[in-house]
Amino acid sequence: MLFYFTGTGNSLYAAKAIEPDPISIPQVIHQAPLEFTADAIGIVAPVYGHEAPPMVKEFLRKARFHTGYFYMVLTYGNRHGGAAELAQKLCQDCGIQSAYINVLQMADNWLPAFDMDEQKKLDKGVDSSLARIVGDITARKRWIAPVTEADRAAHREFLANMERLPADAWQHLIRVTDRCVGCGICERVCPSASIQVVEGKAAHIPGHCQTCLACAHACPQKAIGLSVPEKNPGARYRNEHISLAELIQANHQMNK
Ligand SMILES: Cc1cc2nc3c(=O)[nH]c(=O)nc-3n(C[C@H](O)[C@H](O)[C@H](O)COP(=O)(O)O)c2cc1C
Repeated sequence: MLFYFTGTGNSLYAAKAIEPDPISIPQVIHQAPLEFTADAIGIVAPVYGHEAPPMVKEFLRKARFHTGYFYMVLTYGNRHGGAAELAQKLCQDCGIQSAYINVLQMADNWLPAFDMDEQKKLDKGVDSSLARIVGDITARKRWIAPVTEADRAAHREFLANMERLPADAWQHLIRVTDRCVGCGICERVCPSASIQVVEGKAAHIPGHCQTCLACAHACPQKAIGLSVPEKNPGARYRNEHISLAELIQANHQMNK
């Protein structure tokens, strides 16, 4: 049994390599009871500021997992900042004993720092790393990816920078421009119903935004940008193996 969260498809691609039909966290989190039993239970998700996205943390806090082998695979783009150690601590806090946590470097979809046209060209060895991870999980390997002092320092620095920002700064990251034609694709790829078309134009609703950037990356008009400068506002990203339809199926919050 495998659960995933994705904004631009990397984590779904990794999840599908481990199990053919992984379960979307934005879809399952609304169910009750959140109680799951399986031989192995896993989570695949991106890291945001070296940690799991807020909705993944919420899922781990709310759900009960009955398994002898709980694992996590965290996709990241540039610096995982000790994500495996932070995830292990999160699991402990949620009463989950994690058997295996690994990190997987993929394209970095963080628009303020990276040019998506460049990210698409980089060879980060995704498939060979993923094959190793699949082998580990199949063999029920017990292992937590090692973390260095430099990783921990990067995370401390990140937290210090965050403290200088208003607490709700990330809730105001998404900005819809006049190029919006109201097609509604942003609404359908949003995992938290944080963007909705109102009177023919997309409107961002702060509060539960995961800052996954699914809306910005999927907008065909490039009408959704950020409230901070972007490295290349003309470039957007979706994992090449994942279709827009799959992202919509993963994240669409219709009637929720
Ligand atoms: C809000 C946000 C924060 C991110 N933080 C990090 C980070 O701390 N370190 C890193 O290497 N990548 C970071 N990334 C990049 C993503 O973790 C990476 O591109 C991931 O594979 C995206 O997965 P997805 O396509 O399943 O959404 C961040 C991306 C976003 C949107």
